[in-house]
Amino acid sequence: METTLILIKPDAVSRKLIGEIVSRFESKGLTIRAMKLIRMSSELADKHYAEHVSKPFYPELKAFMTGSPLVALAVAGPDAISLCRKMMGATKPADAAPGTIRGDYATVVTENLVHGSDSADSAKRELALWFTEAEYAC
Ligand code: RTP
Ligand code: MG
Repeated sequence: METTLILIKPDAVSRKLIGEIVSRFESKGLTIRAMKLIRMSSELADKHYAEHVSKPFYPELKAFMTGSPLVALAVAGPDAISLCRKMMGATKPADAAPGTIRGDYATVVTENLVHGSDSADSAKRELALWFTEAEYAC
């Protein structure tokens, strides 16, 4: 059993895709342990995207992620980390397979609808940034 951090990014919230995206994870059999609509602060963006802060695309990514509310979720289930990444599809929507969230609904790389932790270490680190342990405990 694993728990992963999923963000339904601001573009998905604006496009009223929250329900569609949550529904996909639930229909797969995963469990939503915590969920909140929140505006990402500048400080949280720099912590969450620590690996990307020095990259050329970061200013655009940060402006997008902090510009309007997103939905943060703690999602649990067997192999939840890799399973959610598979359901999200490739980072670039043009490479994302049909049937994945990005493959079905996104066209450009920055506004690619969802974030999912990419490893057990990332999930632990990211969950701690967004939720207290008590918020997503069984
Ligand atoms: P995420 O972290 O959001 O789950 O996405 P990911 O692992 O598939 O991709 P990652 O390499 O971690 O990139 C984080 C987010 O930054 C934006 N990005 N823009 N313009 C660009 O070249 C570029 N590359 C990445 C995307 O929003 C990506 O999801
Ligand atoms: Mg990533």
